[in-house]
Amino acid sequence: MAVLVTGGAGFIGSHTCVELLNSGRDIVVIDDFSNSKPQALDAIKKITGKDFKFYEINYLDREKLEKVFEENRIDSVLNFAGFKAVGESTAKPIEYYINNVSGALVLLDTMKKYGVKKFVFSSSATVYGDPKTIPITEDCPTGGTTNPYGTTKLFIEQILKDIYASDNTWDIAILRYFNPVGAHKSGLIGEEPKGRPNNLMPFVARVAAGILDELSVYGNDYNTPDGTGVRDYIHVVDLAKGHIKALEKLDKEQKGLYIYNLGTGTGYSVLDMVKAFESSTGKKVAYKIVDRRPGDIAMCYANPQKAKEELGWSAELTIEDMCKDSWNYIEKNS
Ligand code: UD1
Repeated sequence: MAVLVTGGAGFIGSHTCVELLNSGRDIVVIDDFSNSKPQALDAIKKITGKDFKFYEINYLDREKLEKVFEENRIDSVLNFAGFKAVGESTAKPIEYYINNVSGALVLLDTMKKYGVKKFVFSSSATVYGDPKTIPITEDCPTGGTTNPYGTTKLFIEQILKDIYASDNTWDIAILRYFNPVGAHKSGLIGEEPKGRPNNLMPFVARVAAGILDELSVYGNDYNTPDGTGVRDYIHVVDLAKGHIKALEKLDKEQKGLYIYNLGTGTGYSVLDMVKAFESSTGKKVAYKIVDRRPGDIAMCYANPQKAKEELGWSAELTIEDMCKDSWNYIEKNS
């Protein structure tokens, strides 16, 4: 039996493929390389010393997707195939809703047709909008997303809840990621944002490497200890391991819909991250304070207790690991 990984060549998908193979699972990967490169697949094989089947397809292509289910013995699906750039989603809402929401629907419908009902979904802390209470627990209200990307996550969560309500023989885990950063220790896989990065860590690493001149810190007048935004940064390898634990839970429990925050439980400000990056790598990160970025919130970090208790998972890597591994990836790949 194999785990189907959609978007397996992408940032989080590729790291999860490594952990799946390391934990002894067989995988089948699909990806259309719309935001990833074929080299990531070779890197996964190199890191793990294991091979797997790959199909270059878009998950909206029902006919080709059905072929994957026909040709392989799939028993569960991890869905990483989604567009994720917040700014782009505001400019291209139709493309985001089609790719993320319609894509997930085609995938789920195909799973249903082939009797595969174990599904792990990559959601985001963005579904909490501007959280009323912090640290955020899974039962905090969702909604109030500020961009189409975030709304696709919210919609798909609702779709999954409706599917489970209609047929409780599904096993579904919704994983709400906080801010994934870092890269695999080998430096062979990591984050490759298209064009100018929007997220903090890829930007910081490129300033340190001299690829970009200066970081713009979006506001220092938030109600936080140093005035800059606070987030829960989590190492992508820890995050990937969370998926293995979620799959194990679904294997064990049989039938249920489970929601988990995947975060560390610690918040760091933008300036904390700049300082941590400088001290972990010995590189200077030039920055200037500019206006707030529209849609940003002051503070967002997880209460990760539920994942600890129910999955036996908690993040282990430190902020230094996150910075060092991001830097190692940039040094090896630029
Ligand atoms: C963003 C998305 C979120 C998505 C996540 C993916 C928004 C509103 N949210 O989260 O939906 O799931 O990315 O990782 O865009 N910052 C700077 N300068 C920069 C870049 C960022 O100061 O050049 C600050 C931001 O203001 C924020 C922090 O760094 O306080 C983190 O920003 P970012 O990495 O973009 O993540 P989020 O905004 O938390």
